[in-house]
Amino acid sequence: MKPIVYVTRTIPEVAVNLLRNYCEVIYRNELVPPSKEEIIENIRNVDAIYCTLNEKMDREVIDSSPKLKVIGTMSVGVDHIDIDYATKRGVYVVHTPGVLTETTADLAFGLMLATARRIVEGDRMIREGRWKLAWAPTMMLGHDVYGKTLGIIGLGRIGAALARRAKGFNMKICYYDVVRRPDIEKELGIEYLELEELLKVSDFISIHVPLTAETRHLISEKELRLMKPTAILVNTSRGPVVDEKALLKALKEGWIAGAGLDVFEEEPLPHDHPFIDLPNVVLTPHIGSASHDTRNRMAEYAAEGIIKVLRGEEPDNLYNREVVKIRPLHSIRMI
Ligand code: GLV
Repeated sequence: MKPIVYVTRTIPEVAVNLLRNYCEVIYRNELVPPSKEEIIENIRNVDAIYCTLNEKMDREVIDSSPKLKVIGTMSVGVDHIDIDYATKRGVYVVHTPGVLTETTADLAFGLMLATARRIVEGDRMIREGRWKLAWAPTMMLGHDVYGKTLGIIGLGRIGAALARRAKGFNMKICYYDVVRRPDIEKELGIEYLELEELLKVSDFISIHVPLTAETRHLISEKELRLMKPTAILVNTSRGPVVDEKALLKALKEGWIAGAGLDVFEEEPLPHDHPFIDLPNVVLTPHIGSASHDTRNRMAEYAAEGIIKVLRGEEPDNLYNREVVKIRPLHSIRMI
């Protein structure tokens, strides 16, 4: 009998086809994510769940799927999954590290440029018929990016990829992380600084940490007050890493110059959110990894991870490696 996989919502076809080669697929081909109740109703008999970052895989969901062996998420972030509980229950979690690194770093750099050089504001000015003077010496002045100081919070894959881009802009680069990365420091000639110091010296600050209990509101009023009034904050990681109320105050009162944000405490961002009225903020709708190639590769990679586990093999995108001790892979083999 083939293993059964529940796919929570529409994903690139390449992954659905791959799963269908080995599994019976319950494919909920809808863009909107399912409610928790709908998920629970559909996973009673499945061996695997294929989800995205919008579906919470908490204790209640995991417990409602007694045969569950693996959760594959089409995301690098796993903050929507109760990892400790999944591990305890012997449920493997596979995700998509590595394949979205360059695409997300591109967006972070793009937000730096767009915010500093007021690209979106300029576009809006033209579309709204407000471009009256052909060229004016003091019109739409922004901040240089080339040669400035970039502070990277979280020097994982994406943080390091951003640093490589910044090298091309002759930027001075520093980083803060809970783990030192002497290899990357040496490779890229970048400097480790404590968070407070990084906040004080950087012209651009880009966040690349996962959302955990420790990183929630890592950037709050105290941190924002340390930043330069000309500094620009970029967030392409997870919204709750920044305390949005404090950021709003910082942007309104000029503690910092601007922000480029791809992620928010509440997504989608409510249309009456005060960020929308601020000209010094560039907003994008959580599209860090959203290129055709990368989304296809992410979709495929999560599916490959699920198939590997169901084959009783260890996938290289396994997140909770300790699970192997709880439920050995050979006991899973179904394909
Ligand atoms: C996107 O935010 C991801 O975690 O892949």
